[in-house]
Amino acid sequence: MSLRIKTLEDYHDAYKASVDNPEKFWEEQAETFTWMKRWDKVLEWDFHMADTFWFIGGKLNITVNCLDRHLETKGDQTALIWEPNEPGSEGKKLTYQELYNEVCRFANALKNIGVHKGDRICFYMPMVPELMIGILACARIGAIHSVVFAGFSANSLADRIKDATCKVIVCTDQNSRGPKISPIKLIVDEALAMGCDSVEKVIVLSHTGGGISWNNHRDLWWHDIMDKQSTTCEPVMMDSEDPLFILYTSGSTGKPKGVVHTIGGYMVYVWYSFLNVFQYKDGDIYWCTADIGWITGHSYIVYGPLLSGATTVMFEGIPSYPDPSRFWQICEKYKVNIFYTAPTAIRSLMAAGDKYAQGHNLSSLHVLGTVGEPINAEAWHWYHEHIGKGKIPVVDTWWQTETGGILISPIAGITDMKPCYASYPMPGIQPILVDIYGNEIEGNDVEGLLCIKFPWPSIIRTTYGDHGRCREIYFNVFPELYFTGDGARRDEEGRYRIIGRVDDVINVSGHRIGTAEVENAINEHPLVVESAVVGYPHDIKGQGLYAFVISRENVHDLNTFQKEINEKLTILIGPIVKTDIILIVSGLPKTRSGKIMRRILRKIAEGDLSNLGDISTLFNPEIVDEIIAKSKSLV
Ligand code: WT7
Repeated sequence: MSLRIKTLEDYHDAYKASVDNPEKFWEEQAETFTWMKRWDKVLEWDFHMADTFWFIGGKLNITVNCLDRHLETKGDQTALIWEPNEPGSEGKKLTYQELYNEVCRFANALKNIGVHKGDRICFYMPMVPELMIGILACARIGAIHSVVFAGFSANSLADRIKDATCKVIVCTDQNSRGPKISPIKLIVDEALAMGCDSVEKVIVLSHTGGGISWNNHRDLWWHDIMDKQSTTCEPVMMDSEDPLFILYTSGSTGKPKGVVHTIGGYMVYVWYSFLNVFQYKDGDIYWCTADIGWITGHSYIVYGPLLSGATTVMFEGIPSYPDPSRFWQICEKYKVNIFYTAPTAIRSLMAAGDKYAQGHNLSSLHVLGTVGEPINAEAWHWYHEHIGKGKIPVVDTWWQTETGGILISPIAGITDMKPCYASYPMPGIQPILVDIYGNEIEGNDVEGLLCIKFPWPSIIRTTYGDHGRCREIYFNVFPELYFTGDGARRDEEGRYRIIGRVDDVINVSGHRIGTAEVENAINEHPLVVESAVVGYPHDIKGQGLYAFVISRENVHDLNTFQKEINEKLTILIGPIVKTDIILIVSGLPKTRSGKIMRRILRKIAEGDLSNLGDISTLFNPEIVDEIIAKSKSLV
C-alpha cells in the first residue's frame, strides 16, 4: 500500500484497505519511522472501557523522527521560519540541524534542573520559536508538555497547572500580539499565588525585554540555563503508549479537561494526514496560522510538518496587524505553498475589504485549508476566488482536540470539493450517523449525530487524571461508538457536512467555549442570580455569546453591566471570551426537574420563533413570552 495518495483510485484503495484490515494498513504506515524496538501487536481496543492502544510494545522517541531522521538529508533545509509580530523586525530561520541543536540544549537544561521522564511541564508563551523548541525538548526526555494558550487568564492557567500538577512552567516576560503587549510573567506569578504547589521552577524567556518581577528561589532565565549546554542529548526511549502531551479543552459540563495523546499512534496519524490532506511535497513551504496553544498548532505546525521534513512557518501576530493584508504579505514574502487558516480569519479579512487581498503575488500558493468551525459558502467562495484565484483546492478539514488529527477532509486536488462540506473520511476513519437513541441512520441525504465506530491511531487516550470522565463523555454516550459532540449531514454522494455542536459547547471564532464555564463566571457578578448562555449566528465569529441573565435588582445601565460581566469573564477565563448580547430576564424556562431548557433559548437567540416545540410541559411556560418580547426589543 502506497503511503501517498496520488490519485482518486489511490484514495479509494487506501480507504478500502484501511477498513478491510486496519492493523495491516497502519502497520505499513508506521514502518516509515525509526523505532527503537518494533511493536509486538498493532492494536487493542475496547470502546466500552475507553481503552485504545496502538503499536503495543513499540519503543521510540518522537523527536528522533521529527529531527534526527532528517539530519543526513535535510540538515541544511529550513525547518522553521518565524515571522515576528512587527513586520519591520527581523524574523528567524532555523535549519533542521539548528533546531536539533536547540532542542538538545534545552532538553539538557531541563534535565539539569531536575526534570525527569513523566514530569509535566506547562508552557504559557506567545508564538515564538522557543515554544516549539521547548515542547520538543520535553518529548526528547520523556516529559509531558501541557501548552496553555497565552490568552487565558491567571485563573484558567492556575486550574490547568493544578490539574496536571506541573513541575515547571516555561513563559516569556511579555507577549506582543498585534498592537497589544500583555504581561505574561505577571500572569504566571498571579497563577502561582493561587496555590500551584507542584511548581518548582519558572523558566523565563526574555522576549520583549519588558520589566518583570523576579523570585530568586524559583525563577530562571532561559538564556542562563541554556548557556554552555551541549547540542546533543540522547533521546529517552519511550513506550508507544506513553503520554506525549496534555491539552485542555472545554466541554459541556464542568471545568476544562486535559485531553491526553500518546506517542506512537499520534505520530503515525498526524504525519499520514499532513502528507495526504495537503499533498505536501518535498521543498514546499507550509504555513498554518493557528496558535500552538491549540491542537491545530500541535499537530499541524509542529509534529505533522516536522515528521514530514517540511518547512513550517510560525507567525507571532494576528491577521489584522498592522493591517488586514498581513497574511498575504507573509505568503508573498516566504513564497508559501500551502496555507491553512480558520474560517473566522477568512470572514474578518473578507469584511475588511477585497483591496487588502489584492496586489500581492500569491502565485506560490497551491493548496488552501480551513479548520475549526463550519465555513459558510460566502467565505469559502471568497477564499477560493480571491486567495486561490479560483484555481487551487480548498480543503475544509474537520477534526477535534480529541481526534489528534484531521478525520474528514478533501484530499487536496484529488477528491472533489463542495463548499461547506468537509466531504470524505480519511483512510482509517469510519464515521456513522446515529439518532438520539444511538440507532444508526443509514443511507444518504440524511442528518444525525456524528460518531466514529473504529479507533484510529491518534484517538484520545484519556482525560488526565480521570479516565471515567473520558468514558462518560466520549465512549458511553452511545455503546461501542466514539461520540464527537457534532451534528452532521451526509449528502447524496456520501460527503459529510458538519453542522455544529449538539452539546452545550459554543464555537466562537474557532475557539471552543463551554457554556457552563461562562455561566459560572457570569454568576460571580454580585447582581446576577442566575444565567444561561447560548450561541447565536454571528457574521464574523461564526457564533456569538448570548447571555440570558436574571439580576437581583433593576439594571439601569446595561452597557456598564455588560462591561462588568465581560471583565469577570476576562479575569476568570481570559480575554478571548466575551458576551455579545445580554438580555435581562425575570426567569429562565425550566423543566419541572429544574433543568434550563436551552433549546428554547437557542431558538430565541437565533430569532427563529417558528418552532419552539412543546413548552406546555415547562415548569414556568409563561416566561417564554416575556423573553421573546424582550429579545425583540433588543433589535
Ligand atoms: C470542534 C472541535 C480541530 C482543530 C480546531 C478545533 C468544530 C472543527 C471543523 C470544520 C465544522 C469544525 C467542531 C468540532 N470544527 N473543524 N472543518 N467544520 N466544524 O478543535 O477546539 O477541539 O474543536 O470544532 O464542532 O467538534 P477543538
